Amino acid sequence: APLKSRNTFGVAAIAPVLAEVADASALPDLFTRQDFAARAPLVLGGGSNLLFAGNPDVPLLALTGQDVRVVRDEGDIAIVRADAGVPWHGFVMRMLDEGFAGLENLALIPGTVGAAPIQNIGAYGVEVREFIHAVESFEPATGRIHRFDAAQCAFAYRDSVFKHEPDRYIVTAVEFALPRTPALKLDYAGIGDELIAMGIAAPSAREVAQAVIAIRRRKLPDPAVLGNAGSFFKNPIVPLAQAQALQAEHPGMPVFRGNGPESRKLSAAWFIDAAGWKGHRDGDAGVAPSHALVLVNHGAASGVELLTLARRIADSVRTRFAVSIEPEPRIVGASW
Ligand code: EPU
Repeated sequence: APLKSRNTFGVAAIAPVLAEVADASALPDLFTRQDFAARAPLVLGGGSNLLFAGNPDVPLLALTGQDVRVVRDEGDIAIVRADAGVPWHGFVMRMLDEGFAGLENLALIPGTVGAAPIQNIGAYGVEVREFIHAVESFEPATGRIHRFDAAQCAFAYRDSVFKHEPDRYIVTAVEFALPRTPALKLDYAGIGDELIAMGIAAPSAREVAQAVIAIRRRKLPDPAVLGNAGSFFKNPIVPLAQAQALQAEHPGMPVFRGNGPESRKLSAAWFIDAAGWKGHRDGDAGVAPSHALVLVNHGAASGVELLTLARRIADSVRTRFAVSIEPEPRIVGASW
């Protein structure tokens, strides 16, 4: 199966086999098939967090179920269950339309509901973990269904139990706990200014989503126009002392909250920008002119060319700042 139209980088790759499954209850049967029983498949969501640097040597599985329903309404909080295959942004907007808040800062993130818990998607001061009630999954090796509550998901910045054991569990549905009364988070750089520019003083959750959409459209290239997978690198988390030493040397360097009092998150975009890569281009593999953290395919770049550029960028940041930056998307067919 050709994968070029199934990954937002738009790079060419071929899968040995690809199965589309609408109803997760069909998964046990699928895994009695010889090709799927032999090797854990790679689950393909929106293809927005993947770089094919070679052809996958495992079968691919796409979950296409589109069911969304309120499973429990507790007045101010509702538990909403969505199939893994539901496109993320449409889900966010539908929830806002139906009067459920919480996900407004996560508008316009590419990908699917099923992919959201895997890397604990986050933007503009909110991580999806804050609204995840449970994750339903199927474990091909045992044929068992596992339901993870939020604590069992072991969420951290761009991380979860599903990343620790890649391909062990197939996320089939996610339950969200969504409040009807919004607790808006407007402190993250840009949102407040955007709302002021929109002339909105007391925003609704929908209006916050509109502000986020406007900021993202301006900063992040649209994958339908210029192939990309969002942020290519995670923001590095370093010990406080290292953050302080770097900031003493580079006073303009941004520093964010880390995993506790002794840790800080730094900006990969700032390092890459400071090392001169923004807008750089090697053939069709490049760095977005609008955001240093986004690698782009100007047309015919291969996954290997994009990976080669990414390694050069990480090497230069390490040489210049003694900071290691790690890729955020999953790299298939090669190792980092
Ligand atoms: N910056 C630069 N040069 C640039 C871009 C940014 O120096 O070209 C610096 C600026 O100082 C800016 C800071 O980096 O203030 C942070 O930039 P931004 O607000 O764009 O956020 P980010 O840290 O680069 C993260 C997420 C994004 C998310 C934004 C907004 C990661 C890896 N990325 O990016 O998520 O949308 O915050 O919350 O955590 C994604 O994961 O694919 C993604 C797009």
